[in-house]
Amino acid sequence: MTENSLFQRANELREQLAHHLYRYHVLSDPIISDAEYDRLFDELVAIENSHPELITPDSPTQRAGSDLSEDFPKVQHPAPILSLSKALTIEELMAWEERTLKMLPSGTTLEYTLEPKLDGLTIVITYENGVLVRAATRGNAIIGDDVTANVRTIRTVPLRIPVSPDGPPAPEKLVVRGEIMFHKSDFEQLNEKQHESGLPPYINARNTASGTLKQKDSRITANRPLTAYLYGIVELRGKTLHTQWEMLTYLRDLGFRIAPDAALYPTLSDIIQQIPTWETRRNQLEYEIDGLVIKVNDLAVVRELGVVGKDPRSAIAYKFAAQEVTTRVLGVTPNVGRTGKLTPTAQLEPVFVAGVTVVNATMHNYKFIQALDVRLGDRVIIKRSGDVIPYVIGPVISARDGSETPILPPERCPFCDTPIIQPESAVDHFCPNPECPERVLRSIEFFVSRGAMDIEGMGPQTVKILIDKGFIKDEADIFYLKSESLLELEGFAEKKVENLLASIEKAKSRPLARFIAALGIDGVGNTVSPALTARFNSVAALSEASVEQIDDINGIGKVLAQNIVDWFKDDHHQTILNKMREAGVDPQSEQRIAIGDSLAGLTFVLTGTLPTMTREEAGELIQAHGGKVSSSVTKKTSYVLVGDSPGSKAEKAQTLDIPMIGEDDLRQMVNENSAPQPRLL
Ligand code: IVH
Repeated sequence: MTENSLFQRANELREQLAHHLYRYHVLSDPIISDAEYDRLFDELVAIENSHPELITPDSPTQRAGSDLSEDFPKVQHPAPILSLSKALTIEELMAWEERTLKMLPSGTTLEYTLEPKLDGLTIVITYENGVLVRAATRGNAIIGDDVTANVRTIRTVPLRIPVSPDGPPAPEKLVVRGEIMFHKSDFEQLNEKQHESGLPPYINARNTASGTLKQKDSRITANRPLTAYLYGIVELRGKTLHTQWEMLTYLRDLGFRIAPDAALYPTLSDIIQQIPTWETRRNQLEYEIDGLVIKVNDLAVVRELGVVGKDPRSAIAYKFAAQEVTTRVLGVTPNVGRTGKLTPTAQLEPVFVAGVTVVNATMHNYKFIQALDVRLGDRVIIKRSGDVIPYVIGPVISARDGSETPILPPERCPFCDTPIIQPESAVDHFCPNPECPERVLRSIEFFVSRGAMDIEGMGPQTVKILIDKGFIKDEADIFYLKSESLLELEGFAEKKVENLLASIEKAKSRPLARFIAALGIDGVGNTVSPALTARFNSVAALSEASVEQIDDINGIGKVLAQNIVDWFKDDHHQTILNKMREAGVDPQSEQRIAIGDSLAGLTFVLTGTLPTMTREEAGELIQAHGGKVSSSVTKKTSYVLVGDSPGSKAEKAQTLDIPMIGEDDLRQMVNENSAPQPRLL
């Protein structure tokens, strides 16, 4: 860019940033996400760094951000509440270490702590002789808002330290710094309550936490489940600490909840190795994080390195790619699933988020659209985290210009023109036609998929070709496929056809529980299906079962029992089952596959990706040895079987002290009949 166009761009950015700051702080009504604001801000910083002559005194880069409000008395912080400089790449982290080491005697090596960068808002809390006397927001870094009454309502903030009589004695004065936020589950619950009261949901957890902390009436704050995590000390009298790690331990021993999952590493390259794990883990944590914070451990070195501007040289924030961005809803189309359920999907103005360009996002159901009042043409916030399908969080109401139009459920199925129904009190709308071509396609895709009948060589594309060619109209037709016709298809050479037919043949004798789950009966997955087949040992027996008999099984309620009975009564389903039987499909009942009882009386919960088997296979192995598989961790769970990238179930197990085992341990249990040593992760 030429000097002139840089000048113009910098002016443009300043204007935009001033507008967004006003919307955020004065109107409390932002129209772009925090990440988008940061991006504009960072672009301006980059221009000003390379061309300092372009800096103007009114540039937003020339002041530390302030969140002061007129509603609260002011508190002066004992020392400036510093920020952190950021790194967006590994190279930037390495450059930071190089800069740091240059300022220290040659040969110095540095240890670092690695902490999650919690996505909440800063709080500064003062204790005098162990008693909480004040709590303040960051404000403008020098002066903050006094929010003591509100912070007192947060249960994780001790009113007196040490919390336990075994803790270290209270120091004369302690000013701690941390982050206030909502746990993801607490925020969801808060929104459920809003919904029950007929109020619109909160869209952004961080803004809601900020609004909650700044309530004039602390009874409102007390009713909202805020959490506080602490990670630093601003002032300490009556005790000396030497390292950041010692500081975290000290805070923990006094009874504070400290930055969770913090760890100490001997080198920066050890830290860098941890980054990919954290990027995956991020989506499984109970709390939102937007990066990692890396801090020099030795506090003497921290002092020596000092501060540049408002950032300490001894720490840096490694920011993750943004997961939330705003974009526009261009259209909405309903997807129809195998059960006939409609899922409205938004077509978006393409937007780059967390490494990919997103053009579609799910809006869950039409009730969700109505509750949030999302309209066609709206600017919306979307989120893409991990492998989850991007979803719409909510509209930016203040960005409306009046041209937006309501989004309504379709009156007829877009695939088969059958009138759409919404069963009484149901959240979802349905296409009730079991022969709807879209439903058939989705059912067959599900039936052959890995977790179900596991027919190798029959991915969604093949299923689509076979349907389009008229070779299959339902699940049963798969078992009548002939090599002569398959060989006619483009790309289906002899070997491929042979393999496909061999895996179809193999699927004819899948375990009964797996077969029942593959049928796609609403509510009958890999947990309910084994419970059914433990009682009814053939498809015929289950087909004839009554609602009372099924309802009698532990964990199955009346509604589900009725649903199962209705499914088997349906003529269309009976025809398919008969056709399959005639083709030689003969699911193997549990009695026939039970191999032992070494796991009798034990209940397992499965999470994560196992090294050599699927979770379904592990479930079958457990059941074949008399054990039970359950979907949620409770005090009654005997073991949690943990694979790679485990979900929140592993955390829950840790909280409840349930032993966690790996695939090897399970194999050992079924082979040697001995209980494994639990391994703490
Ligand atoms: S240390 C001098 N540690 O990130 C110490 N900050 O600008 C500077 N944050 O608003 C902060 N988690 O509120 C630190 N483990 C952590 C943190 C953390 C979140 C926030 C902090 C600040 C921003 C960095």
